[in-house]
Amino acid sequence: MQIITEPCQMQAIAEKLRLNRQLIGVVMTMGALHEGHLSLVKLARQSSGTVILTIFVNPSQFGVNEDLHQYPRPFEQDVALAKAAGVDYLFAPEAKNIYPENYQTTLECGALGKRLEGERRPGHFNGVATIVTKLFHITKPHRAFFGEKDAQQLAIIRQIVQDLDLDITVVAAPVVREESGLAISSRNIYLSSQERSAATILYQGICHAEKSITSNKRDLVAIAAEIEQMIASTPGCRTDYVLFVDEERFEQAERAEEGKEYRLLLAAYCGAVRLIDNGKIRAC
Ligand code: PAF
Repeated sequence: MQIITEPCQMQAIAEKLRLNRQLIGVVMTMGALHEGHLSLVKLARQSSGTVILTIFVNPSQFGVNEDLHQYPRPFEQDVALAKAAGVDYLFAPEAKNIYPENYQTTLECGALGKRLEGERRPGHFNGVATIVTKLFHITKPHRAFFGEKDAQQLAIIRQIVQDLDLDITVVAAPVVREESGLAISSRNIYLSSQERSAATILYQGICHAEKSITSNKRDLVAIAAEIEQMIASTPGCRTDYVLFVDEERFEQAERAEEGKEYRLLLAAYCGAVRLIDNGKIRAC
């Protein structure tokens, strides 16, 4: 595995790979690699000739009161994990080479980037859209692999690819969970052991929704309210939002229609830690 830090060097390598007809798969991360990231690398490995993993803690997607400076950066450990997972190139640039002095351009997301997470974290998705697009240009992938854990981010990336006519296939990988059902996330390290077990209420909420919808309940607003109640009665936890969106347009859905797919989106605090989770459910 080769470690590259200069954008122009990564771009030159990617260009050469393309000229040699190599199928490039990219997995973008902010490091602190875990099972979720490794499942993306595995998927990329299965269907790409060359796998590029990017590690960059992107300052432009953090709000002023967010955890940019505390964000975990176990670089040596990440290098070992990437190598063992079969990554060919690890692209880990410095911030000054991604956003040099006099950097001026930011991608502006539309309505999709301003709702839900976008409303709570103003500017977050513009930062994500900008870095993902820059990394697309630097790594020149044919396929890009993203986790469904960040479902709104995934929807926004699909929108960028469509709106900007990028010749890239976005491949989504399912949420990876601990045995308890807790979705794996780099931010889980902020949870105390008590909060970690309380946080499984999010997964229990997803299971409740699945059971309700498969037993023919149609009122998605009522089901979401039941899940909010479950979260509210878990010590130390409080809901930020719980709602269903339709899988196609990512807009709030109120009633389940037969044969359609919905995504339950949850955001909740367990102690001071804000967690997000989601589950895809088909109404039969
Ligand atoms: O999901 C993440 O880790 C980040 O938002 C991403 C896509 C790597 C952009 O910084």
